[in-house]
Amino acid sequence: MPVSQNNLKEKKIDFNAILDKVRVFAPATVANMICGFDILGFAVDEPGDEVKMYRVAEPGVRIRSIVGDGGRLPLDADRNTVSACVKMLLNDLGILQDIGVEIELIKHMPIGSGLGSSSASTVAGLFAINAILGNPLTKDDLMPYCVEGERLACGHGHADNVAPALIGGITLVRGGSDLDIVKIPVPKELYAGIVFPQVDVPTRDARQLIKEKVLLKDAVTQWGNIAGLVAGLFQEDYELISRSMHDVIIEPSRAILIPEFYAMKEIALSNGALSFGISGSGPSVVAVSKGREVAELVTTKIQEHLTASGIESFKYVSPVNVEGPKVLSFND
Ligand code: HSE
Repeated sequence: MPVSQNNLKEKKIDFNAILDKVRVFAPATVANMICGFDILGFAVDEPGDEVKMYRVAEPGVRIRSIVGDGGRLPLDADRNTVSACVKMLLNDLGILQDIGVEIELIKHMPIGSGLGSSSASTVAGLFAINAILGNPLTKDDLMPYCVEGERLACGHGHADNVAPALIGGITLVRGGSDLDIVKIPVPKELYAGIVFPQVDVPTRDARQLIKEKVLLKDAVTQWGNIAGLVAGLFQEDYELISRSMHDVIIEPSRAILIPEFYAMKEIALSNGALSFGISGSGPSVVAVSKGREVAELVTTKIQEHLTASGIESFKYVSPVNVEGPKVLSFND
């Protein structure tokens, strides 16, 4: 789908259909898919972030509380990415003065983890405000606000986290100002084994490490890999997927930020992973595997290695999440 800013003022909001409260989950994402820097990404079932949104009498958007961020995220509604994006959307709908909402943000994943933490929160917030309003907007309408949220969060509006977080599955982002977001088929047995070594790598810092220029021979290798990966996903050809998921451009610069990176890679590949690399801007790493069993084995062995090296870590094993954000019950 091409992404364009629609004129939201033309949307009709039925004030009788507005809900009192809504609870939304949005998934974490593995951006880059190892070889596709800033253009490929997929969503996972866990972890993910949660937004509880309440309609209140006083107009405007406020943050009521944030849980799980260790006090690092701003409560100021203009500085917090979630509330800032919700405000932007209500403003463009022309109803910011007519409705009041308060937000509880529950972070289930660490900030600066390479799992699309800010994207999951922003997508959850935007999906929640749309649900509160009775779903007047499509995901296409919400996408530009999600991309803007990414720009606010890390200074660059790449869409490789927000796109899969909002529409689920595996996504390809083409273009810059003329954005296309293309959904790619998900092979049934594709699993992500994610390990988050507990060190902090802010995306802003990880982006500054990347070299401005690439060698033509590296570019040729990389775009061959991207095309091979996309073809492999369409054809459900795990061997082609495995041969294609290599990054010769970004990984060499960023791997130095991740403790034990090359040891983890050796463990993953020698225990049957199709591929191994950095998740987003790191420090999380991902072993892409055929089947849950291999993903479980690889992540367990990597965690054992990190523990023996004195590094604490979390692990997640998940198929590709094809649904994207969802409304949850308040009773669960
Ligand atoms: N494509 C981005 C990067 C994802 O690698 O910097 C992190 O948000």
